[in-house]
Amino acid sequence: MRKYIIKGGNPLYGKIEVSGSKNAALAILPAVILCDQECIVEGVPKIKDVGIMIELLRLLGAKISTIAGDESRLRIDPTKINTCRLTGKRATELAGEMRASYYLLGALMGRFGEAEVPSPGGCSFCFRPMDQHVKVFRALGGTCDDITEENWQDPVIIEKVERTKEKVTIAFGTPSVGATMNAILAAVKSNGKTVIKQAAKEPHVVDLANFLAIMGANIIGAGTDTIIIHGVEYLRGATYTIIPDQIEAGTYMAAVAATSGAVTLTNVIPQHLDSIIEKFIDIGVSITEYSDSIYIERKASETFKGCKITTEAHPGFPTDMQSQFAAMLTSAVGESEIVEHVWQQRAAYVRQLKKMGANAEILDKIVIKIKPMEKGKKLQGAKLNALDLRAGAAIVIAGLIAEGTTEIGHVDIIERGYENMVAKLSKLGANIKVVECDICDDIVDIDDQ
Ligand code: EPZ
Repeated sequence: MRKYIIKGGNPLYGKIEVSGSKNAALAILPAVILCDQECIVEGVPKIKDVGIMIELLRLLGAKISTIAGDESRLRIDPTKINTCRLTGKRATELAGEMRASYYLLGALMGRFGEAEVPSPGGCSFCFRPMDQHVKVFRALGGTCDDITEENWQDPVIIEKVERTKEKVTIAFGTPSVGATMNAILAAVKSNGKTVIKQAAKEPHVVDLANFLAIMGANIIGAGTDTIIIHGVEYLRGATYTIIPDQIEAGTYMAAVAATSGAVTLTNVIPQHLDSIIEKFIDIGVSITEYSDSIYIERKASETFKGCKITTEAHPGFPTDMQSQFAAMLTSAVGESEIVEHVWQQRAAYVRQLKKMGANAEILDKIVIKIKPMEKGKKLQGAKLNALDLRAGAAIVIAGLIAEGTTEIGHVDIIERGYENMVAKLSKLGANIKVVECDICDDIVDIDDQ
């Protein structure tokens, strides 16, 4: 086990490079299953979830190697994959560690017309339904049991049924990132036309479609509400670079605004951060956008205001940024309100911010109110465990602001989605280090207190 030790109070200065997008990589790597030749994927983030996806693909028979020893550049040969059934103890353990293992269902169904994948796991801030995924598999001719809270631990099995309809329309009630990407994966090689309505529009959805398009897939409209796919028989090998991670960029921007300093983030697509940048500008933090980088500055003498945030599907403010903003807004001079509209609950970390002295409360699972701290008061260091990926990032930011030392346990949860966070923050001047520990038993979970 390892923990992070942060001594707060240092401003952040310098330049760091943003890694490839986690949520794009986790769909693009399994998409290679659909390809009839070898592919090269670049800009792959070196994070735990990607390591898990690589191991799952290897268990299916894919040959994966790094190029010139660079883990962000992968050569993937899917041609030896000859099973659509991912079974066994190791596969079950790995798939259960992350939500994105559900993309193997869409990709395997797309190649073989049937699939078996162990139950996906992932950040457990609330029950994460799969009914829209099941809708996709059934619409495209598969039979599949409902996935409910009761049978959540069972493998998901899609039985082979031939697609009979020339045109299939899948309309989602709520735009779902995962179900939209699974629909794309399952449909690109399926006979006939597939129309996806109320599709998710996140940059990673567009990235997946772009990757498949250069392999020869016929996909129109990714990034809009309606995606139209005409199935093709063959996908050729391709070389592709994954987009930068807009949530990683936003997280470091929140850290800079919270602590003060001036930082340039390179490898960014600023348009992907529009809703996040808008909030920084609202609260009075200076941002300059360039073609592929962003400069953020807050002088130590400058304060910033509170704001109102409602999380929404893209292009709205992303749910994956609300906890980092909440940590930053504990130091604002005005009140803030965050309404979480994507997930039914994702605010457990607020109790941790309160333990550090924040004037924050959860009103009804989805509404977070943050009031300014008493004049002259600051967050205080504390011993805490990372609760999930973004909650963990939030308490890192809180630790960077806090007086004294913050110890964060269960950091493997943070490393599921952030490449070299400690090295990147250290490069900017943060006092943060990783310490090996047998068990993090000196850190008591907030719920156990
Ligand atoms: C993806 O999860 C991301 N994960 C999440 O990022 C992110 O929070 C989420 O999209 C929203 O942007 C990956 O890409 C691996 P959804 P996903 O299906 O696909 C409801 C992070 O921190 N819904 O878009 O699981 C659902 O309850 C992670 O990086 C159904 O009702 O999310 C939610 O309210 C955490 N039925 C909404 O849709 C379904 O079958 C959006 O969920 C599926 C979803």
